[in-house]
Amino acid sequence: MSFDSATLTYKGKTIDLPALKATEGTTVLDIRALYKELDVFTYDPGFTSTASCHSNITFIDGEIGRLLYRGYNIADLAKSCDFMEVCYLLLKGELPTDVERKDFVKEINKHSMVHDQMHNFFKGFRRDAHPMAILIGVVGALSAFYHDSLDIKDPEQRDLATYRMIAKLPTLAAMAYRYSMGLPFVYPKNTLSYSANFLHMMFAMPTEDYAMNPVFEKAMDRIFTLHADHEQNASTSTVRLAGSSMANPFACIASGIAALWGPAHGGANEAVLNMLEEIGDKKNIPEFIKRAKDKNDPFRLMGFGHRVYKNYDPRATIIRETAHEVLKEVGGDQDPLLELAMELERIALQDQYFIERKLYPNVDFYSGIIYKAMGIPASMFTVLFAVGRTVGWIAQWREMIEDPSQKIGRPRQLYRGKQERAFKTVANR
Ligand code: CMC
Repeated sequence: MSFDSATLTYKGKTIDLPALKATEGTTVLDIRALYKELDVFTYDPGFTSTASCHSNITFIDGEIGRLLYRGYNIADLAKSCDFMEVCYLLLKGELPTDVERKDFVKEINKHSMVHDQMHNFFKGFRRDAHPMAILIGVVGALSAFYHDSLDIKDPEQRDLATYRMIAKLPTLAAMAYRYSMGLPFVYPKNTLSYSANFLHMMFAMPTEDYAMNPVFEKAMDRIFTLHADHEQNASTSTVRLAGSSMANPFACIASGIAALWGPAHGGANEAVLNMLEEIGDKKNIPEFIKRAKDKNDPFRLMGFGHRVYKNYDPRATIIRETAHEVLKEVGGDQDPLLELAMELERIALQDQYFIERKLYPNVDFYSGIIYKAMGIPASMFTVLFAVGRTVGWIAQWREMIEDPSQKIGRPRQLYRGKQERAFKTVANR
């Protein structure tokens, strides 16, 4: 094997697999000629060794726990930028100047309201529907409302769909919450920041003024920033796969929201809180650790482990600090749930099972504690993940659509079913 390619020999025939150099991270072997030249496929369920695309947006170094958006470290962005600047960066590749930022915010604000008929759409759901179920439905339904932004070949329509989704997701998410509570919908207020506006739409009452808590606003903004993109995870890959068939962007983002819902992905933040409540007391931790290690027990420690991070999730470090700020604000820094979480983290990090498998707390381990302190119910946690991640999904979708080498995603399979056999009539079965 040379440094620039690998050779593969199969049934006496040898081919070169060119090595594609990454600007950061692992080199990728180009196997596109494999089937044509050797008549074989590769087998990689779960894509553990497969790059599904090339991308310039986000990079994770899982060994050292580093996350970059467009080359900027997540810690710098979370500390010094607001979510709107991060959205601009992910979409356009550079941080905005002051003027560019103002213009971008103006453009987003133009689209923060939803079509009035959308209110009727909500009313079709049961009041006890999970807000993620509602979100999948209403985001998919946007394609029925905005016919002038469905032509994906038109860059202006792609921009319009982009602004619409970033602007409307908080409105729809807050509406899902208000509907489940039997509360009237609150219209967006464009004088507020993106994150403050979201909290306003969640919690304001028509009967009184809503006092924005700056600690909550900062925490919300930081959480959106930390969730904004995470390269080719399950929901982003779903968006790309749906988009590869040239489906409209609203339908693609709805498919991403569906993929996010599962507890192995975005649904973990809700599952963490449920787990902490189930553990209930520090004295019960050893029993749950034992269960997590038992291969005959399906229980896993929610909020631990990650496919790519084999070191501390850098988002978890930042969000941990935010959790303390928010709990201090609500006078709950002695919160028993947080104490329980810290103790669980401490014990798990010393346990040989977790050390050997490099299972560290991930971002979802702390986000639920913050949401709870802010008065957000557990069923909304994954919805908030979706609001933050929307910009990443769209940035990745746009990158794919704008790539001239883009093809429909169509994986192959290792067929292990019956070989062709003789048909039997009903009487002979
Ligand atoms: N608790 C106990 N054991 C675990 C856990 C856990 N949370 N996660 C992984 N393991 C074990 C697993 O049993 C396996 O052990 P062994 O080698 O003995 O068979 C080993 O660690 C490797 O696990 P895996 O399932 O092969 O790893 P994966 O990369 O396929 O799964 C994961 C990654 C995130 C789905 C998994 O770690 C998990 O289920 N974690 C809990 C759910 C969670 O917190 N998800 C949020 C991910 S971060 C937010 C996001 O990006 O969506």
